[in-house]
Amino acid sequence: MKVVVIGGTGLVGSKLVNKLREHGHEAVAAAPNTGVNTLTGEGLAEVLKGASVVVDVSNSPSWEDSAVLKFFETSTRNLLSYEATAGVKHHVALSVVGTDRLSESGYFRAKIAQEKLIKESSIPYTIVQATQFFEFLKGLADISMVGDKVHLPPVLFQPMSADDVATAVGRIAVEPPINGTVEIGGPEQFRVDELVRQRLTALKDPREVSADPNARYSGARLSEKTLVPGSNARLGETRFETWLTQPAAHAQKAA
Ligand SMILES: NC(=O)c1ccc[n+]([C@@H]2O[C@H](COP(=O)([O-])OP(=O)(O)OC[C@H]3O[C@@H](n4cnc5c(N)ncnc54)[C@H](OP(=O)(O)O)[C@@H]3O)[C@@H](O)[C@H]2O)c1
Repeated sequence: MKVVVIGGTGLVGSKLVNKLREHGHEAVAAAPNTGVNTLTGEGLAEVLKGASVVVDVSNSPSWEDSAVLKFFETSTRNLLSYEATAGVKHHVALSVVGTDRLSESGYFRAKIAQEKLIKESSIPYTIVQATQFFEFLKGLADISMVGDKVHLPPVLFQPMSADDVATAVGRIAVEPPINGTVEIGGPEQFRVDELVRQRLTALKDPREVSADPNARYSGARLSEKTLVPGSNARLGETRFETWLTQPAAHAQKAA
């Protein structure tokens, strides 16, 4: 089966392309540096020829409110329109657990817009909402600075490894479309501030993490369970302590 992975050179995308190939599929990594740009449409008609499935694991280079909205709206519109012409049978997109509860955030308004375009299109689809990646914990600290301290709310979340994300998305990509949303998450729950503190300690990053009930996540207020997936979520196997011992925890993308 030909599967085109938009963002196939990224953190999840590169793992996904390898896994699909290991399972005998023709997986094609599509990204600007392979000549495919979903914002301009460049290379899309060519790469989608003969494709049965498209998996969109791309991300916006800028998370500024208007830039990220423009990225997900324009690229999703282009992609769905070229897919319709090419006769693609399944559009799979990676989104985030709780997206619909996070509309105070510019980034999540863009993900809501992406999901809406997919739901309204004529292409059969599956939206995969994942929890936060272990690889993103330092990034979470970086976007949560107030002065010289990290401010994070002490609410629950259920993060997972990017490798487990790629495994789950790969399985879903070769299953029939459900025209709905599947949630995926990690095997354990933590408090956001506690796990980011542990991650920074492991990285010997001296920043202090303050548990601040009023702190926002990417601009959105959180309640105790905003980031927690429902009881039907498919759970990855990799525990945080195990992931910390793996090369992935030391890779530049996870730094
Ligand atoms: N971080 C988290 O905790 C988390 C949790 C749940 C869901 N997600 C979702 O997971 C998805 C992927 O995240 P990631 O961290 O794997 O992303 P990433 O490593 O930043 O990779 C992004 C990919 O998108 C490509 N891209 C950028 N602009 C493009 C364009 N105009 N046309 C085609 N491709 C383009 C990039 O290509 P270049 O490298 O060539 O620019 C790269 O391959 C995102 O949609 C995000 O919302 C993230």
